[in-house]
Amino acid sequence: MADALTTLSVGQGIGLAAGVATLALLAAPETAVAQAFEDKLELCMSCHGEKGFSSVQGVPSIAGRTLNEIVHQLRLFRSGQREHQQMVMAKRLTDQEIEQLAAYFSAKSLPR
Ligand code: HEC
Repeated sequence: MADALTTLSVGQGIGLAAGVATLALLAAPETAVAQAFEDKLELCMSCHGEKGFSSVQGVPSIAGRTLNEIVHQLRLFRSGQREHQQMVMAKRLTDQEIEQLAAYFSAKSLPR
């Protein structure tokens, strides 16, 4: 598990940096809140893929899920009703962040 994580952060760092730079231009980065949100989004994308389309074994794609489903799953992870070692960061998400993240990923679609 530790090995998989290390490979992941190194391997995806480059593509991710480009994606995040684009996002930073699109979103309004002037508030601290927006910055914190982008930091979290960046972390999600480091595992779930830039557009929520995962190429990492063991990590599900979350693009194209409904907003409600993503919100629901994130709340389960936050409360501990659903547990996964790699999803522990969900425990620190606010309601607003959960909804923003769900809106972001549900608006993406899986490549066909
Ligand atoms: C360290 C890697 C990692 C990070 C960071 C991460 N996830 Fe996950 N995520 C996973 C894994 C692995 C699973 C599958 C857990 C399981 O098998 O139960 C998962 C599951 C999910 C699911 C449920 C998908 C399903 O099929 O039910 C959602 C939704 C989700 N993650 C969203 C997010 C969001 C949003 C973020 C950012 C706040 C995030 N994840 C950050 C690895 C990660």
